[in-house]
Amino acid sequence: MSLYENAVVGERPNVVPQGLMSALAPMPLPPGAGPGNGPASGPEAGREPATVPAADTGSAGAPGADNRPPPAAESHTAVEPESAAPPPQPDPPAASALRPGERPDWLRVRHAAIIMDGNGRWAQQQELPRLEGHRRGARSVREVVRAAREIRLPALTLYAFSEQNWDRPLEEVQGLMQLLHDYVIEERAEILDNGIRLRAIGNILRLPDFVKRPLQQLIADSAHGTDMTLTLALSYDGRESILEAVRAVAEKVRTGALLPEQIDEAALTDCFQTSDLPPVDLIIRTSGELRTSNFLLWESTHAEFYTTAAPWPEFTRAELYSALRSVSSGRAAGSRPGLGSGGGDKGPLL
Ligand code: FPP
Repeated sequence: MSLYENAVVGERPNVVPQGLMSALAPMPLPPGAGPGNGPASGPEAGREPATVPAADTGSAGAPGADNRPPPAAESHTAVEPESAAPPPQPDPPAASALRPGERPDWLRVRHAAIIMDGNGRWAQQQELPRLEGHRRGARSVREVVRAAREIRLPALTLYAFSEQNWDRPLEEVQGLMQLLHDYVIEERAEILDNGIRLRAIGNILRLPDFVKRPLQQLIADSAHGTDMTLTLALSYDGRESILEAVRAVAEKVRTGALLPEQIDEAALTDCFQTSDLPPVDLIIRTSGELRTSNFLLWESTHAEFYTTAAPWPEFTRAELYSALRSVSSGRAAGSRPGLGSGGGDKGPLL
């Protein structure tokens, strides 16, 4: 059993400075914030240079499904940002033609995770305040969640707020918290009516109460959803999640529940907040970057990486399907890289 039933956890103390907590009280989204500074942008606050580790580059090719060679099993597929011209858009599957509970034949991805990058740059290009970029980004979230559910993608995880994002300007943090609150309130009916199971990973206790309460309520109320698991990574830090798992394993050893020689990949995987999700097959990153930014480090060992030049506010359902198709086409049924190799692969998809 997962250590983190329903994944509303945070055994870590709430370490938000008091001043920030009170400043994070519910508020109407400001009409616009001033542009944030460079280092505070991106899912991670302090941006590392956009270098591409050789092992991760793969062969350059146009993004999208149909004009790339199928990726070799176990290899990562990365698309160079400069060659990321608008991808050929395959006809989106006629989701409406699917019977309830039916997945399209071509879908081989069990778990897709998205690094939603480029809200700030999109806003800057449009000469809009950064918060307007996040607001448009929230629209993309709604569209992509709906699109994923319509084709019965078993699991979708969205990197919505990293632990480092607390370091952004207060006004931006407030705006993001307000968007999260609004999302949970406004999407509640759609999530419950459509069999979506909502979860959250990360240091949830760090969220302000006006976000945390409705979030936890919806997580509890949607716990029996079977169509898709939607996981929001909030106040999330991939390395910290590994440390949490290691601490949990150490505790099992201390109490005698586990012998040191019984520590293997499965035992550690069991101690992650993601332990009841399938391994990540696909990581999508928008806005052309190729970094993994401390996201699902353990869980995505065998994931393929898909990047698109489109900033998150311009990411569409068609491009989601294109990414899913491109990875699915390289994964014949029954020969999926990553099966059984760390990341909660325990039979049922959900
Ligand atoms: C990265 O863009 C994005 C974020 C830090 C936050 C993502 C939040 C949303 C998409 C909206 C709210 C989420 C939900 C689930 C309703 P950036 O600002 O770092 O972009 P930049 O790199 O261009 O500056």
